Amino acid sequence: MIIIIKKNYDELSKEAAKIIKEAILEKPNLVLGLATGSTPLGTYQELIQMHKEGILDFSRIITFNLDEYLGLSANHPQSYHYYMKKNLFGEININPENIHIPECSEGWRRTNVLRVPDGTAKDVKALCRDYEKAIQETGGIDLQILGIGSDGHIGFNEPGTSLDSRTHVAKLAESTIRDNSRFFEKKEDVPESAITMGVQTIFEAKKIILLASGENKATAVAKALEGPITSQITASILQRHSNTIVILDEKAASKLKKYG
Ligand code: PGA
Repeated sequence: MIIIIKKNYDELSKEAAKIIKEAILEKPNLVLGLATGSTPLGTYQELIQMHKEGILDFSRIITFNLDEYLGLSANHPQSYHYYMKKNLFGEININPENIHIPECSEGWRRTNVLRVPDGTAKDVKALCRDYEKAIQETGGIDLQILGIGSDGHIGFNEPGTSLDSRTHVAKLAESTIRDNSRFFEKKEDVPESAITMGVQTIFEAKKIILLASGENKATAVAKALEGPITSQITASILQRHSNTIVILDEKAASKLKKYG
């Protein structure tokens, strides 16, 4: 694991964007795993800027998002479909057919390769299998971007999730519902479950960049990087990954014993 500590969020975002840029320049049909939340926003801004300057062409890249809430329609402002359109896809020349986000919403609409006729448990399971299959069919994720939850989660793999897990329906931890309620009008509006890539799905990415910014991530970062590898902190699995770069700002790194 390579750990890079940057002074602040801006520098962290520039560093992450630089690594993604190099990967796309090297492989124009890169399979890119994407995250939502506050942390990657600056990175996406940098990538959009590079695209506008003519440095980056996204026309051949293939993307897979980590997760999506269950029960929000794709045009709900807090859905991750909406987030991705607003914060990245709507600003770059990505081919919509190359975008993959786990299905969401009541009514199960069609998105990309995934079609689920109704919301029964069986169909959700089929959808999870199809998502895994779609990833495999591209040859696997080349570069996965990750944030980390204050409870040490990656994707929505909350404490206690098996480190062998694959794409599945996850119940959100109480702390995650609390953290994410800042985006909703009230806490009760935050969905209680989501579809997420599993820990093992994420682990199989050829290269991973984990980003963390701010003091509220310092404890989770210290546990993930310096604590035992445990399903209680699913990000800790990255200690075993041979090609992971962790980019932190000074505040997120402040509780690391070795680096802080
Ligand atoms: P954040 O979320 O980037 O909004 O802090 C990260 C996460 O929960 O994985």
